[in-house]
Amino acid sequence: MGADPEFKKVCTATDVEDGAYAEFEIDGRSILVCHSQGQFYAIENECSHAMNPLCGGRMRRGTIVCPLHGARFNLSTGAAEGPPATLPIETFKVKLEDGNVCVAVTKRRVTVGSSFMPPGTLPTH
Ligand code: FES
Repeated sequence: MGADPEFKKVCTATDVEDGAYAEFEIDGRSILVCHSQGQFYAIENECSHAMNPLCGGRMRRGTIVCPLHGARFNLSTGAAEGPPATLPIETFKVKLEDGNVCVAVTKRRVTVGSSFMPPGTLPTH
């Protein structure tokens, strides 16, 4: 029995220490694998506010803060929990298999604006 084909091995669980994250390119998408409070998460590396990379932001208690204007996102749900962002970021399913972190990266949903942003709904802030 092999791994679920939708999941791709990204790194080993020991590659990303608890409290840290690492950037990976998967299928042409920039993804952050985050290890927070014993859990692994995978999120898109792009803020929903002004599309700045989230890499470089501070991660704390299950959230990551955008380094540009300080929006805070929930690592599990992608929800914007702090201004100025109001829209979520995309998150991906993660599973640990044989000590490896495997991520199910989906194709980008929308090409304009954030991956969760319906066309015509650009940030207002
Ligand atoms: S680009 Fe992230 S908060 Fe503005």
